[in-house]
Amino acid sequence: MAGELSPIDKAKFVAAKRAAQFVEDGMRVGLGTGSTAAWLVRCLGEMVRDEGLRIKGVPTSTRTAQLAREVGIEVISLDEAKWLDLTIDGADEFDGELNLIKGGGGALLQEKIVATASDQMVVIADIGKEVETLGAFPLPIEVIPFGWQTTQALVEETLISMDVLGRTSTLRMNGEVPFITDEGNYIMDLHLNRIGNPRQLSLVINQMPGVVENGLFIDICDAVIIGFGDGRFEVRDINEGTVDRDRVDFVESDNVFSDLTD
Ligand code: 5RP
Repeated sequence: MAGELSPIDKAKFVAAKRAAQFVEDGMRVGLGTGSTAAWLVRCLGEMVRDEGLRIKGVPTSTRTAQLAREVGIEVISLDEAKWLDLTIDGADEFDGELNLIKGGGGALLQEKIVATASDQMVVIADIGKEVETLGAFPLPIEVIPFGWQTTQALVEETLISMDVLGRTSTLRMNGEVPFITDEGNYIMDLHLNRIGNPRQLSLVINQMPGVVENGLFIDICDAVIIGFGDGRFEVRDINEGTVDRDRVDFVESDNVFSDLTD
């Protein structure tokens, strides 16, 4: 089954498979959103089913909640969990300090709340997500629909004094209508090309009325697991300063491919 996947999907699966080994019996686990996180949810579902793993999952979107239930993971709300042992999620970009851009899937608000309420956040990604400087991927910000054009003008004006290369923004669409987040808000994508000072930008953007949250994750991620299409993976732990390399055996993992829908 793994042979039918594209190299990039294999890489995502490999990262997810390794990350699933971080999950221990009894843990409360934040479940990320996106195609890489979907692999993780499937791997955990397999462990629940076949190995009797007992976990409580806190999803970061309605999509992830649905998938988690489908694969047999017990789903609870963040308020029921109160605090999480671990969150595992994908990312759109990560840099050498494991600062992230997230929100490509429009779930950045719940993702940031959940990751921040966790002892540890682990990002799973293919190598294409690694960048020297954040910003080639458009930075998503979640904005209140009321007065969104005024918020957009304010954001663009503020970007003039920021250390970025581009200053345009676009409202994310879902066909002919604006994309709506799980919280009923809009997503604005900022085309910055290069973010010289992500920490400062994050603070400034979040001060604007109308902005709910931005997709920069600064000092939140503890480790990244980078998967490769040939089964290799690399685990970089920013706190320990370690890099471990090994590989995943695809043959053991055939079950998780059989009912793939994401
Ligand atoms: C969703 C996210 C995702 O984690 C990010 O977009 C990566 O997605 P994928 O794993 O599909 O590349 O932030 O809001």
